[in-house]
Amino acid sequence: MTNQKATNVTWHDGDITYKDRYNRLGQKGVTLWFTGLSGSGKSTVTVALEKALFKLGKMSYRLDGDNIRSGINKNLGFSPEDRTENIRRIGEISKLYCDTGIIALSSFISPYRADRDQARKLHEDGGYSFIEVHVDCTLAEAEKRDPKGLYKKARAGEIKNFTGIDAPYEAPLNAEITICTDKMTLEQEIETILNYLQEHRYLMA
Ligand code: ADX
Repeated sequence: MTNQKATNVTWHDGDITYKDRYNRLGQKGVTLWFTGLSGSGKSTVTVALEKALFKLGKMSYRLDGDNIRSGINKNLGFSPEDRTENIRRIGEISKLYCDTGIIALSSFISPYRADRDQARKLHEDGGYSFIEVHVDCTLAEAEKRDPKGLYKKARAGEIKNFTGIDAPYEAPLNAEITICTDKMTLEQEIETILNYLQEHRYLMA
């Protein structure tokens, strides 16, 4: 938990509520939190999902590890403390997206269960839904894909603290959705997620 540093600050409510935005947009702001190894397919899935939602007339926005680390989180590395702070900030940003009514597609390795649970709590305490999507794939498969050549570098000792090699990955125990990218097609994965959103009434007609 990060302590509150500034004193004498109070949240100021507007006159337009979360529910007003929900009704206007025909969709409920919700966070889909994609967690998985580097190379597991998180970015591929969120890119395709954003497109599929767009076709349905629904607005979502991808918050992606490499993108966020090039901007707001450029001062963070990969130590356990920095990863925790990375996820804390993304948790807060995702929650703001929820409040706008936009579906946040947050895709981060987020290797620590406690950090993901903290992001979940932040949402749930504020009355927003947090849907954990485990992008599951064996380390062997992720390493075989190695889309950025990073596993090769990590094996050669050129990158330290690489998730799955010399840094841990704690898989979710109770993810709302699990997609196995080494067994399912991309179309099946997108269908699984869209079905979940529809069944739980996050998307209105
Ligand atoms: S997280 O662990 O803090 O959630 P995040 O998803 O933001 O990680 O960033 C992961 C991306 O950073 C990887 O996909 C990879 O491109 C890059 N990266 C660079 N160094 C590392 C490392 N040591 N461990 C994991 N990913 C790394």
